Amino acid sequence: DARTPHWLPLLGRHALVTAGPTHEPIDPVRYLGNRSSGLQGYAIAGALAQLGANVTLISGPTSLLAPSDVSLIRVETAREMEQAVMSSLPVDIAVCAAAVADWHVVNAVTSKIKKQAGTPPPSLSLEPNPDILARLSAAGPRRPALVVGFAAETDDVEANAVAKRKRKGCDWILANDVSEGTNVMGGTHNTAILITEDGVERWPLMTKADLALRLVRKIALRFGAPAL
Ligand code: CTP
Ligand code: CA
Repeated sequence: DARTPHWLPLLGRHALVTAGPTHEPIDPVRYLGNRSSGLQGYAIAGALAQLGANVTLISGPTSLLAPSDVSLIRVETAREMEQAVMSSLPVDIAVCAAAVADWHVVNAVTSKIKKQAGTPPPSLSLEPNPDILARLSAAGPRRPALVVGFAAETDDVEANAVAKRKRKGCDWILANDVSEGTNVMGGTHNTAILITEDGVERWPLMTKADLALRLVRKIALRFGAPAL
């Protein structure tokens, strides 16, 4: 059982996990960002470490403490996250659980923008952020042996996740339904669909901690651990 301290099937393996949101500054007090508590990514990093892996957790701004036995690198923006990820290679396993902002603000300024009566609000000019998961998946000889992405979807979860796996070039995608009422964002529970090269697995509603354990057990099996 993965809860037994003696089952260390990932001993000697290196893993990196991205987690949390990224914040893209508008000015020193405002930012553009995605919703993410970081809970799921932190749980996965902790579970990988429990199974013996050497884990680097690259996290955007969250209010969480680093799990024990995990090296934490804190970043703010997607571009900083990408740099930290690429300089953490090589690893055997990469899990991209971060909710990366898709754009950054090109016309960000270093002094606070003041409201001025009678003048219109400022316009933000956006440019795409690097796609960290796609870059990791296409990293050639530096590509991790197993690259796992997440997909947060509100509609056609399975079809979108299957398409996303192809587009990103990753090995597995864990897709969450985040449509209204599912309460995944910031919540303690998660349901997921796992898309692999072998097809689709539907996972029941479980805590984010249990989902992390289930994922890392599956990763351990993929790396040759004997089935329990
Ligand atoms: N991701 C990433 N870098 C980005 C955007 C996304 O590494 N710049 C990763 C996320 O960590 C996640 C996966 O890609 O593992 C899917 O993220 P998602 O936002 O669902 O995919 P996008 O390609 O950004 O598509 P969209 O937001 O349009 O659905
Ligand atoms: Ca996105």
